Amino acid sequence: MNDEQLIAAARAAALKAYAPYSKFSVGCAILSVDGEIVTGANMENACFRLGICAEISALTTAQAAFGLAGIARIAVVGGDASGAALTGSATVTPCGGCRQSILEAAQLAGRDIAIICANGNGTEFERHSIVALLPFGFGPDSLRQAG
Ligand code: THU
Repeated sequence: MNDEQLIAAARAAALKAYAPYSKFSVGCAILSVDGEIVTGANMENACFRLGICAEISALTTAQAAFGLAGIARIAVVGGDASGAALTGSATVTPCGGCRQSILEAAQLAGRDIAIICANGNGTEFERHSIVALLPFGFGPDSLRQAG
């Protein structure tokens, strides 16, 4: 599974977002160390603060499917899903809260996790890692070290 394929899975997932308020559809695809893929999309709510991000949706599915420690790589895309395919020119990176949740998986696994951040069109992407996106983050290691 290469990065382009993982982005394609995230773009397909974004089409299933429920984002009537922001109209910004986000898709996330997570690849396991064994080559399994799970996906998620954002799901908004009339009580705005209760909406959930695509990454959280995908992370909960990953936990159920193969466990957070089995996460190898993550792709995130965002844009306009009003047409047949996702569109959008700007690359999307995970929000702060999602970075925190991805850091949990990384520290559980004892390694960094690559995050591929693509635009809605799927034509541009950047490779980041969770440690780069959330330096000096607080995670399970911090609790262990404090104890
Ligand atoms: N969103 C995500 O799903 N993931 C992110 O990392 C950034 C933001 C969603 C939340 C909301 O439904 C919409 O994008 C606009 O913020």
